[in-house]
Amino acid sequence: MTHVATPPFMRLRVVRPATGPERQQPMGEGHLPVLVDEVLASLEPRPGSSMADCTVGGGGHAERLLEATSPDGRLLGIDADRAAISEATRVLARFGERAVLRQANFEALLDVATEAGFVPLDGCLFDLGLSSYQLGDARRGFSFASDAPPDMRFDEEHGLSALDLIDRASERDLAGILATFGEERRAGRIAKAIVAARAEGRIVTAADLAAVVAGAVGSRGPGEQGRIHPATRTFQALRIAVNRELEVLTAGLAGALAALRPGGRMAVISYHSGEDRIVKRFFARESRDCVEVPLPPVCTCGHRAQLRAVTRGVITPSPAEVRRNRRARSAKLRVAEKLAVAAS
Ligand SMILES: C[S@@+](CC[C@H](N)C(=O)[O-])C[C@H]1O[C@@H](n2cnc3c(N)ncnc32)[C@H](O)[C@@H]1O
Repeated sequence: MTHVATPPFMRLRVVRPATGPERQQPMGEGHLPVLVDEVLASLEPRPGSSMADCTVGGGGHAERLLEATSPDGRLLGIDADRAAISEATRVLARFGERAVLRQANFEALLDVATEAGFVPLDGCLFDLGLSSYQLGDARRGFSFASDAPPDMRFDEEHGLSALDLIDRASERDLAGILATFGEERRAGRIAKAIVAARAEGRIVTAADLAAVVAGAVGSRGPGEQGRIHPATRTFQALRIAVNRELEVLTAGLAGALAALRPGGRMAVISYHSGEDRIVKRFFARESRDCVEVPLPPVCTCGHRAQLRAVTRGVITPSPAEVRRNRRARSAKLRVAEKLAVAAS
């Protein structure tokens, strides 16, 4: 894990994403669950299983998990976003009391699952990032085209919005956020332009922000059709920062490990390399007996393996799924099983 200097007011523990930005899917498309058959095959839901969907969103995966655990399996659906919980409540209504929904951040998974009577869990799913519903809701300011302020929080009742962040951050802090979370090579130039535009009151909407970024780095020209929007990395970086996405992921994975029964499985779908690296390292660390570096002749750390990776490497979507669902193209699924000998 790489720790880098971050704005003191945000108190973030950050991890550098290593590769490409997520693209924005056109607004108005519904949310199709990604790698859904692969998730079901990995988590092996059965009648009576107790499952948690820690990013329930519009309930796409949850619906399939509840069908697979019929007639008496239960699912705890968690989402930080109130609107997602409303949508999941509507979609999952036909399952009655078998579906239990909570608005919460999955960093509190163990507490939420314990309170809801779901520990120990047989399976646990994280489908990270942003849903198409959120991107398509112009009021939330996730999209370049939005005429609303850039809010970008999953949980609109807590924390700083992206507009608050750019209002309060120094040029240096902002450049650090764009470079760290967006891997934006032109972070300095963009941060300077944002700070100048902000001082002149020129950033009111997400569309204004996208235009300022495009102005700083040059819009897509005729020869650049098909390339990503110039504000893609900036929007991704601000969203990751305001939602503390990389920071809460490790806590969520640790919560899942604690909440699973021995033999229970967790599946994690990530969409950019910073997330995937956290998952990969978490699985690797929790699959080892001793985590001292370098390995000593006799272990003194007392760490014991609690997981085994079920997948070798990552599972990625088929070309046919990517053709059906553009959002799937950067998805990577990793699956691990809690060891039977591990203390729960
Ligand atoms: C990709 S969508 C999930 C879509 C869902 N699997 C489906 O099929 O409808 C990700 C969801 O996770 C939620 N989310 C992201 N980070 C979260 C966190 N730390 N805690 C709780 N929910 C989170 C977002 O609000 C969003 O609704």
